[in-house]
Amino acid sequence: MKSNAFFLGKGGVGKTTTSAAFALSLARSGTRVLIASLDPAHNLGDVLATKLDDTPKNVEPRLDALEVDLNAWVQKYLKESKDELSQQYSYNMTLNLNSFFDIMKYSPGTEEYAMLWAIEHIRCNLSGDYDVVVYDTPPTALSLRFLAMPAISNIWIAELTKLRERILEKRQTITRINPESPVASSCVDKDDDKVYGKLGSIKRRLTDLSMLFGQESYIAVVLNPDSLSVSEALRIKDELDKIDVPLCGICLNKRGVSKAAWELDKRLSDTPLFEMDFVPGGLHTRDDVAAIDTSALVTSFKAAPARTKGTT
Ligand SMILES: Nc1ncnc2c1ncn2[C@@H]1O[C@H](COP(=O)(O)OP(=O)(O)O)[C@@H](O)[C@H]1O
Ligand SMILES: [Mg+2]
Repeated sequence: MKSNAFFLGKGGVGKTTTSAAFALSLARSGTRVLIASLDPAHNLGDVLATKLDDTPKNVEPRLDALEVDLNAWVQKYLKESKDELSQQYSYNMTLNLNSFFDIMKYSPGTEEYAMLWAIEHIRCNLSGDYDVVVYDTPPTALSLRFLAMPAISNIWIAELTKLRERILEKRQTITRINPESPVASSCVDKDDDKVYGKLGSIKRRLTDLSMLFGQESYIAVVLNPDSLSVSEALRIKDELDKIDVPLCGICLNKRGVSKAAWELDKRLSDTPLFEMDFVPGGLHTRDDVAAIDTSALVTSFKAAPARTKGTT
């Protein structure tokens, strides 16, 4: 059994509903589950009929839930970056760091990083109390960006690390040739260099997260019997392929909702399919959600190896 599950898909297909039904089914069959909503427009609390915040709240035996406060994580990420840069560049008064940070909150990537650090917090500080963490995800675009972030950032970190190594080597050469040079007083050794150490620690954090997504997670896409949600599922599959994150299941939700013709694309036919019926009367209580039959999905989840083969 993997330790995490993510449900991706187009808005409105039933990601929150499926995540909640899946988490309830696991918890009611004896597994300790934390369900965490990453969607800034939270409605997990409504679906579970409980008021939630950013710390785990007990919903029923073996099931806790939380709604990640993305804005608070963005603020925390900005403050940490600002404190660190202010320390590094305390000698450089010509940089106006405040105005830089004012615009940084709008820079591309800030929300994705905040999301990654929120997931890292759940993994490192909360997941120890549970067997499984289920993630209810935000709209596709943001989900795909944060899933790809560790791989993309690690390319940057590798280049920056090489650059830093070259700087340290140059400093060593200068110090050897001219021990009186002002450079002689600066750090020349990788083991003592703060910047080099920082790059190493970011690389370790990102590698752990890419392992979480690529090997320790059961990633499923939810779709409905309509061509728009199938197209979106295909786009998700293509993006996951690019970052080596396997798609473990397809959840066809709202089966029978319409008689319109639709087709599951052949490229999705290799992935196990789980079907969940449309409930005509609507979903009003937690038990309505729990009554959605996710048993085949739960069986597939439990049978998936904790780590993808080829890893330790
Ligand atoms: N199987 C189902 N039967 C009936 N209504 C459903 C079903 N699945 C989802 N819904 C309804 O569809 C709407 C969108 O579901 P939701 O889980 O919030 O989607 P998402 O999280 O993907 O945006 C909600 O009103 C929900 O109650
Ligand atoms: Mg939702």
